[in-house]
Amino acid sequence: MKAPVSQRWCLIFSLFLMAEFAIGELFFEPFNVTYDHRSLLIANRRRMLISAGVHYPRATPKMWPDLIAKAKEGGADVIETYTFWNGHEPIRGEYNFEGRYDLVKFVKLVGSSGLYLFLRIGPYVCAEWNFGGFPVWLRDIPGIEFRTDNPPFKEEMRRFVTKIVNLMREERLFSWQGGPIILLQIENEYGDVENSYGKKGRDYINWAANMAVGLGAGVPWVMCKQSDAPEFIINTCNGYYCDGFKPNSNKKPIFWTEDWDGWYTTWGGRLPHRPVEDLAFAVARFFERGGSLQNYYMYFGGTNFGRTAGGPFYITSYDYDAPIGEYGLLSQPKWGHLKDLHAAIKLCEPALVAVDSPHYIKLGPMQEAHMYRKSGYGKWSRSSESGDESRCSAFLANIDQHKVASVHFQGHIYTLPPWSVSILPDCRNVAYNTAKVGAQTSIKELEFDAPLLSNASALQNVLHQDGASYISEHWVTVDEPVGLWSDHNFTVPGILEHLNVTKDFSDYLWYFTRIYISGEDISFWKKNGTHPALTIDSMRDVVHIFVNQQLEGRGVGRWVKVVQPVELQEGFNDVALLSLTVGLQNYGAFLEKDGGGFRGQVKLTGLKNGDMDLSKLSWTYQVGLKGEMQEIYTLDGNDKAAWVDLTIDGIKSPLSWYKTYFDAPDGLDPVALDLRSMAKGQAWVNGHHIGRYWTLPSSQGGCQRSCDYRGKYDSSKCTTNCGKPTQVRYDVCSSIG
Ligand code: GAL
Repeated sequence: MKAPVSQRWCLIFSLFLMAEFAIGELFFEPFNVTYDHRSLLIANRRRMLISAGVHYPRATPKMWPDLIAKAKEGGADVIETYTFWNGHEPIRGEYNFEGRYDLVKFVKLVGSSGLYLFLRIGPYVCAEWNFGGFPVWLRDIPGIEFRTDNPPFKEEMRRFVTKIVNLMREERLFSWQGGPIILLQIENEYGDVENSYGKKGRDYINWAANMAVGLGAGVPWVMCKQSDAPEFIINTCNGYYCDGFKPNSNKKPIFWTEDWDGWYTTWGGRLPHRPVEDLAFAVARFFERGGSLQNYYMYFGGTNFGRTAGGPFYITSYDYDAPIGEYGLLSQPKWGHLKDLHAAIKLCEPALVAVDSPHYIKLGPMQEAHMYRKSGYGKWSRSSESGDESRCSAFLANIDQHKVASVHFQGHIYTLPPWSVSILPDCRNVAYNTAKVGAQTSIKELEFDAPLLSNASALQNVLHQDGASYISEHWVTVDEPVGLWSDHNFTVPGILEHLNVTKDFSDYLWYFTRIYISGEDISFWKKNGTHPALTIDSMRDVVHIFVNQQLEGRGVGRWVKVVQPVELQEGFNDVALLSLTVGLQNYGAFLEKDGGGFRGQVKLTGLKNGDMDLSKLSWTYQVGLKGEMQEIYTLDGNDKAAWVDLTIDGIKSPLSWYKTYFDAPDGLDPVALDLRSMAKGQAWVNGHHIGRYWTLPSSQGGCQRSCDYRGKYDSSKCTTNCGKPTQVRYDVCSSIG
């Protein structure tokens, strides 16, 4: 079902005035960035850096200044983002750097706030983003194979990476130009798939490294999860824990490019939560054991607006259980406890940068200390610390998941909670312990009113704003036709691959055919009490099966078999299959081959004389839904549909559009649309595509009553929301900004 929702007027979300930038403005005195085995050297000084992942298109430009300010207040030095090729080049050669894709504005905002920027160009990014960031048109380039030693792919990749680097240079955004960019990334976790490509994979990664460095960006490049990265590229760690990670050369520093502080989820999945005590433990251990740059993936996750969610089946929210929640509000106590952690690490920075590697001291069977002590600062000192001639910082860790430990260190006794690190900026006093949360402990980031659903209608949806709910009582509706709706269709023999037809301009693709059923078949079924079934050998992501305009059933999954009993009549029967993608595959090798729709045979089974292979018939193809293509969710397109008032017994079609109007709530707080009474579809507000929705509930089992932070985290630990729809609230305001 589809639910376009319109407001009487647009919510203008003008919390923050955009800074205007003068051309050629310097954000910093130009500085060089290099590195040694200990850290990045920012203007020749070693630095311990906290980085905050914020993907610009997952927020709106009006939210950016506040998100950056909150990251800075939380103790971040750096903002990290990927670039999103399919957002920037939706049509080959036609670039988009506007609105949510205004990368230059985003980088300038970071610079003007005094933070650095780490730009992960990819251009393959994974990121739970549609097709991992690749434009779908890339599949159509003759002879192309993605992410391997393939000339057409390399040419397209080189073109896009060059475009981004040149844009940043023209806008004077690199550090040596007085801009905030200190670090770049090429590719993304290629090490995970490299073996699938054999020698061509190794050649590709060398080519990618040389191509990137050859662009003359003038700042260091990283590759994450790439243990065979060449000497001139820093290979880095991604994961829940990265202490103990060693780059592939002792000349490279230890970087953690993705610290997974939460996790994403799928339609029908549970909501993951990573306890902040464990997250802080992981970060403290990383710096304790010699790490020098750590990036939260994500510091703000945000929203997969429109059809940007990857797949299959990633939900519209990309909250990620990040320190800043989807609506841009602080998620406590996560944000606050990390802020305290960052402050403690900052107190240690002078000692951490002064020492080439820490001194290890065993304190007990599962307890250890790492001490950074140096007399005099030598060449790594920062001028502000020059009076302080000798300094010592230490980390005391208790890796035991169960027991509190008492340890002796430098003549004193320290009590360490299980699975925790104490930070001693002066090697004597505990400034911070990762398991002791001093920050505000209210769990909720946003208080929503209880939804005021009326029993009278299954279609009343609620608009939530902090502290208030609004219900739309009056709806209009129009059915989406189950059948051809325009002349833009074509007929060919056989079953075509979904993406080859839609080019991903829509999730939806209709397949129509007509079959003849004899009287003998009907008598055969009656006599035997059997039923014919429409069988699809393999399909993804969703298929709705119609016979003679009646919905017979659905299939859902990733390359699963579907066997759907169907009602047939004697004579001709119209078969219509509505195939849907729900976010294109964003992870794995050979993405260009994955595609969508159906594989193998589509057949009718249970006939008197054996199966009927429908793959051999002629099929008519129609891309998209009528209402979608006519944009009936916009003011201009509204009149193209014959809307009628909705009454509860008026819901007859399985495919319908619904529309309502509501007054924009007062105030500037975030606003969410509660779509729990709907089924599955896409929603628009004032013509803005707020994303896909689906009320598919998660399974009953697997949630924990309470969450124990101790011990290694994985995304199945500390989940919530069992048995409930994965997402019921949808970010409205930020889709308008
Ligand atoms: C990583 C990947 C990221 C993101 C993350 C999970 O492997 O590099 O882009 O997909 O997993 O959120």
